[in-house]
Amino acid sequence: METIAGLKRTNYCGEFRKADIGREATVFGWVQRVRNLGGLIFVDLRDRSGLVQCVFDESKDRALADKAFSVRGEYVLAVRGQVRERETHNPKMPTGEVEILAEELRILSAAKTPPFEIVEDSNVNEELRLRYRYLDLRRPDAARNILLRSKTYKVVRDYFAEHGFIEVETPMLQKSTPEGARDYLVPSRVQPGKFYALPQSPQIYKQILMVAGFDRYIQIARCFRDEDLRADRQPDFTQIDLEMSFADREDVMAINEGLLRRVWKEVLGVDVDIPFERMTYAEAMRRFGSDKPDRRFELELVDLSEVLRGCGFAVFQSALEAGGSVRAINVKGGFSKLTRKELDSLGEYVKTYRAKGLAWIRMGEETTSSFGKFLSEQQMADLLQAVGAEPSDVVLVVADAKDIVVLESLGALRCEVARRLGLIEKGLYRFMWVTDFPLLEYDEEQGRYQAVHHPFTAPMDEDLHLLDIDPARVRAKAYDCVLNGYELGGGSIRIYNTELQNRMFQLLGFTEEQMQRRFGFLLEAFQYGTPPHGGLAFGLDRLVMLLAGEDNIRNVIAFPKVQTASEPMSGAPDLVDVEQLRELSLKLWDYERDCELQ
Ligand code: AMO
Ligand code: AMP
Repeated sequence: METIAGLKRTNYCGEFRKADIGREATVFGWVQRVRNLGGLIFVDLRDRSGLVQCVFDESKDRALADKAFSVRGEYVLAVRGQVRERETHNPKMPTGEVEILAEELRILSAAKTPPFEIVEDSNVNEELRLRYRYLDLRRPDAARNILLRSKTYKVVRDYFAEHGFIEVETPMLQKSTPEGARDYLVPSRVQPGKFYALPQSPQIYKQILMVAGFDRYIQIARCFRDEDLRADRQPDFTQIDLEMSFADREDVMAINEGLLRRVWKEVLGVDVDIPFERMTYAEAMRRFGSDKPDRRFELELVDLSEVLRGCGFAVFQSALEAGGSVRAINVKGGFSKLTRKELDSLGEYVKTYRAKGLAWIRMGEETTSSFGKFLSEQQMADLLQAVGAEPSDVVLVVADAKDIVVLESLGALRCEVARRLGLIEKGLYRFMWVTDFPLLEYDEEQGRYQAVHHPFTAPMDEDLHLLDIDPARVRAKAYDCVLNGYELGGGSIRIYNTELQNRMFQLLGFTEEQMQRRFGFLLEAFQYGTPPHGGLAFGLDRLVMLLAGEDNIRNVIAFPKVQTASEPMSGAPDLVDVEQLRELSLKLWDYERDCELQ
């Protein structure tokens, strides 16, 4: 193989334009394809910027042309030559008006035939692509997402630096911070039997940085949560994490609206209107059946409980008698698309959200309905009026003894209907803040309260008196940033007083001893002069996914994990040597044998 000695790259392949004609150029790259068109050998060379056509003329240099014809796909080459105008322009290529007439060719590396073609919009199975991720990342669309991500980091860092934020790295090996998910544990060698946890977020450290006086902190932080994978969740992900002292909710929101506006402008060239729409959690649930409403379409939920109270339909009646609700969405003009077959399929869809069925009314020339015969004419008229139904609309109704089941199933249904009916306009970004979340939720299984966000979130001042009498009704100074139905980020104003923090831990069922063992250092720090503070963290992967127009965060992560939380290229996680375990004083629990023994 040859070397690059004496050669310097003049340009990336994708940069050449008409203005370069007549210049000498040296490029390095991978072979996209080779063609022999009788006397002329064409080699398309690719690097991260794109493609350029290199030509080898047999009549000028036979040996050079033969050498060019010997190369194969994905060989790594150096080509030096003159830029000239192409005989036939190729409007599909940004460099399509020019080509490089080669004078020198070096073969820097040979390559095996790749297991799939390196082309845009590949439909190759994802597992195979991720197994050979380095080849996958040569595909322009895959590479583009990584470049877009890199650009995002830069805009984020610039913005926060301009606004007086200080970047601080917090430890990866730390004590477990409770963020609600399971920890990834790392055994300590020097202290046998003890474990570090990988951070679920830098939450406690960033609050302590406020006690330390840094005032405004930012970190692009790796976080680890051992939870089930989904399209918008990875075990190993990145946050844009920030914290501000002497700041209230308005300050945190304003800084972050500015950030998103800047990112969307610089990365996508899109103007985002600020301030964002705001909605309380209660209103979001009532109108959209979700704490992260997709505001790109309407389809609001309507409460029919009062209209239908005392009606003759047993399904509705029993739900209402049990203290539940009946709610509906009106799909405007849905008549032609929501056929009986489609309604059956939507009925199955809501069942995955625990609803027991889906009742419907189709407003055709004649109104048909799955439950109309059980209603009086007046009740039906009241119902249609309540949802604002007109000819060609379809009304979808869910009843359940649990209001939350009705809300969540209709919330999911409105998004599914919007997708199936094509109601979602491309390129629309509807940002919003959802505020005033409940502070606590009761966990039936564990028989105790849990923090909805995390235990450091402050209660709203006007709800403080409820902490002792009705904790479930206390609202939190918490806010989520929502975009197009995704939770982009979440944060809160924190508790900064030791007594209140103690009270919170008690409500969450920690004993004094547990509290001291897990959070003693934080409670101690709070005793040395704590500024009021608050902050937020964005999911960077989700943010880049939405910028890139992707629907899975794997597509914006260089080496993502798949379903089983494994990384297909390296094969992690993997077995380790017994010797490594011995060093860590670890012995594997033989699950099957131990179960037999019991
Ligand atoms: P929270 O737990 O809401 O808050 O996380 C903040 C944001 O991180 C993203 N996110 C994830 N992204 C990908 N994969 C995951 N498994 C995953 N989990 C969370 C989401 C989410 O909105 N310490 C607090 C923030 C604060 O209060 O300042 C926290 O971590 O986009
Ligand atoms: P059935 O009495 O089971 O034939 O149901 C009559 C109609 O009510 C069908 O369209 C069912 O899908 C619908 N239905 C059943 N349970 C519910 C429910 N919990 N909420 C809304 N509709 C329901």
